[in-house]
Formats: sequence, structure tokens, C-alpha cells
Amino acid sequence: MNSISRRSFLLGVGAAASAGLLVSRSPLLAAAEPAGLASRLAADPLRPQFHLLPAANWMNDPNGPIFLNGVYHMFFQYNPNASVWGDMHWAHATSADMVHWKHQLIAIAPTPGGYDQDGVFSGCIVMDGLLPTAIYTGVRTTANQADATLLDGVHVFQETQGLAISRDNLQTWQKTAAPIIERPPAGMAITGFRDPCVWREGNNWMLALGSGVPKKGGAILLYRSPDLHHWTYLHPLLEGASKGSDAINPVDAGDMWECPDFFPLGDRHVLLISTMGKVFWKSGKYAAGRFTSEREGMVDFGSYYAARTMLDRNRNRILWGWIPETRPEAEHRAAGWACAMSLPRVLTLSPEGDLRMEVAGEVDALRGSHTRLDSAMSAVARQKTLAALRIRDLSAELQLEFMPEPGREFAFELRGENDEPFASMAYNPANSGRELRINKTFAALPVAAGKPVHLRLFLDGSVLELFANSQSSITERVYTVPKSALKILLPNPAHLKSLDCWQIRPISKDRLTT
Ligand code: FRU
Repeated sequence: MNSISRRSFLLGVGAAASAGLLVSRSPLLAAAEPAGLASRLAADPLRPQFHLLPAANWMNDPNGPIFLNGVYHMFFQYNPNASVWGDMHWAHATSADMVHWKHQLIAIAPTPGGYDQDGVFSGCIVMDGLLPTAIYTGVRTTANQADATLLDGVHVFQETQGLAISRDNLQTWQKTAAPIIERPPAGMAITGFRDPCVWREGNNWMLALGSGVPKKGGAILLYRSPDLHHWTYLHPLLEGASKGSDAINPVDAGDMWECPDFFPLGDRHVLLISTMGKVFWKSGKYAAGRFTSEREGMVDFGSYYAARTMLDRNRNRILWGWIPETRPEAEHRAAGWACAMSLPRVLTLSPEGDLRMEVAGEVDALRGSHTRLDSAMSAVARQKTLAALRIRDLSAELQLEFMPEPGREFAFELRGENDEPFASMAYNPANSGRELRINKTFAALPVAAGKPVHLRLFLDGSVLELFANSQSSITERVYTVPKSALKILLPNPAHLKSLDCWQIRPISKDRLTT
């Protein structure tokens, strides 16, 4: 759990939520109905128009994304009561194309008096034959410190792993009476015990669990089961080294790895972990239950966390991530909504084993009016086209290709009609390890001499997702509402090869509030 935005969650808020039902049927919209909230959210210019987010209130991690019978199902951490973290449920949305989403009823709610009474935390979905099976972490406040596995300075939670199955096409879920993994391995001191990732291996199921060892570092615990119900702890899949910080919350120190996701990609395996507010990838070899990391990096240098993958209809590996807020909690509490899901990103590995990502081609279907500038045009024609170009409704895709010049920054800006600043982006080869920038957020973008830089920016209300050469990404939040359409400024256009700008069409009429 990332404590910064969640500190003010009050214990007990969740108790009133789910009225004793094993499976909650309360629609997501219910929260948006009172006091015209839905119409306010539908008109909020900061609220994205083509990213998935709940009708109202708070969301965080993607949970158990799965493509089944021609439909994409996305579940995610959701607070039905407020636009701040707390009282975690699994919300549910469906899509035919990973782009246009429809809200469904809440999928899994805490069971009062149950092992998940204080929260249905993150997890995954696997197919047990024909039976969709969700495996997730349930939390419950404990008075007994010895049972507590989540201590972040605010909560004293016991975490156990729960299982629920659906017999009606992922709409309602029936939980087992008892957790399937009740406590950490005997004698092991751990910093956390959550967010299972399950896969099939031969005749067994394997389960990777986010954890860590105090002052030693993060760790992923590996379990095995013949039937998804009885689990044997094997050993760590991978262990990290402590960052040596004294943070109260072990996640902030890097001593707790949340949300593991483990999968084959190309001829290697990839492990994703979330810690210290960032998602890290590691690629390497997996054999005999041990993962040897050979290369590693950061998935996204911005506001992006708790990523999880699935296979799409063509068996591409698709990455989803939670886009947190960066504004003060009082502001998103007042706004009535908080956070969004990233666009789907297709993952591949470079020949060296570095993670590469591209926004899924399905997103192209949202493109509206198009403006292009390229090197076949005269300088005058380019200048004229750029001067006339406007981005309306904070909803656009922008692509720029340019040849970097040694020692010289390439920059471009989005500004309002009267030059009010909105966002500025730059690539500076001299800034080693921090070559790419959007506003005040930097990312590494090493580019071999003589190679072009290709930038792709998706602007959607307060969300900006920036991709560079398929190798680096920054998700930025911008809470400025410009008074007019945005124009693009390019102070140094000489090395621009091309610029493409599309208006992006919204995925719903009302910013997904219905
Ligand atoms: C990551 C996380 C997970 C946990 C969930 C709770 O953002 O802290 O570790 O399962 O969020 O909402």
C-alpha cells in the first residue's frame, strides 16, 4: 500500500459498506447519483474521456484483467463511498476492444465478519478449467500484533489470501468459507503478504505473492498447489537488497514489493513489482522455481503504479497500470472522483531483453480530425499549418519524430491561446539518465547516435501519457484548465521530421459516469 495518499483513511469506514452480503450487487453508478454528482463529473474538464475510470469515487490497482468469450473484463480496486482510498472492493468493467468500457456491478465486496471484512485487496483471475477463479488478498484489522502483516503506520491488518469463483460469466462471485493461505510461512519475518499472481505450470498451479523481509529488502514468495485450494510454500521466487531507508511504511523503503506480475515474454520471463511509488521490470531466466534477473528498469517514470498484465485476443501481453492522483487529497475528495486506468500497452522484449511497450493499436480507432506536418512540406507551409493547429477539449494524440542534435535540447510546448503554459516536453541528450522531460518529471531515454526520437503523447483531461521510442514512458498529471484550445509551440523545428496530431473522440457521452 502506497501510504502517501492513503494516510487519512479511517479504520472502520468500510464497515458500513456492504450490508452483510456475500456478494454486493450495488451498481457503481449509485455513488454518483446524489446531488447531481454525475452531471458535475460529466462536465469536469480534468476527468479523462478515453481512459477507464469508475462512474465516481476512488479507484486504484487493476485486478485480474482477462479476455474471456470475446469480452475483455477489467476489475480494479474501488472505494464505493468516497473519492479517497479505503474500503476496498473489486469494481468491474467490460469492453469489446480494451478501449470502450461499460461499467458492471461491483464484483467482490468485503464480507462483514469475514477474513476480508476491511478490504478486498488486489489479486488475479485464472480459469480453473471452465471456472473463472479470483484469488485475492483479504484484510482484516487485528488486535494481535503477532498476526499483523500490514503495518504502515496507520493500519494494523492481517492479510490472508482468499478465493472466489463465478458461475455467471464473471458477474457474481462466491467466496470459500476460509482463506486458502491463512498466514505467512512459519518462522518468517515479513513486511507484507499480498497481491497474488497465479499461473499454470505442468500439473500444478503456482502463486507469487508480494512480500519482503524487514531491513533486508523486497521479496516475492512462491507457492505451489495441485488444485488452487491447498498451497505449499516453496521459497522466494526472487529477493531484493534493502535500500536501507527508515521509512515507517516498508513499501516506501523498498522493503516490501507489491503487486507481482510474472509471465513469459519472448524467450525469457518478466517480473513486475511495485514499490517506492514505481513499477519496476526485471527480465531473465526462470527455472526450477527460481527467477534470475538479467536486466531491469522502470516501467514508467511518472504517476503510474501497481501494473498487471493479461493476454489479449491475439495473445499479445497487455499491461495495465493505475494512474494515481498527484494533487492534494482534499482536492480529489472535493472533485468526487480520483485516479484512472492507463491505456493498454503491448509488451515485447528487445533482443537484449529490455522491456518495450507500445499503446495497443485498438486505441487508434479513437482518432478524429488529423493534422500532419512533415519534411516534404516547405518551411513556410509547416509554419502555417502549425500556427493553425489547435487541440480542443484536452483530448488528443500527438506524435513527433525528430533527429536529435548532439548537445542540443529539442523541446515543444502546449499553451493556451494567450500563451498560458499547460505542458512542456523536452529531450536533451546531454542530460544523461534524465534525457526526457515532461513538466518536472524526467525519464531515462538513451538514444544511439544517428537514430531518431519518436514521441507519442496522449492527452486526456488531467492525464498525459508520454511514450518515447517504445522504450521509456512518463505518465504525468496536469491540473490546469486552459481557458481556450491548446496550441503547439516548437521553438526549434529544424530537426523535426514529422508531427501528427489527432483529436481523440471520447469513449462515452458523459465521461463514463453511466
Ligand atoms: C497497491 C496496493 C496493493 C493492495 C492494494 C490495496 O497499490 O497497496 O498492495 O493490494 O493497493 O488497495
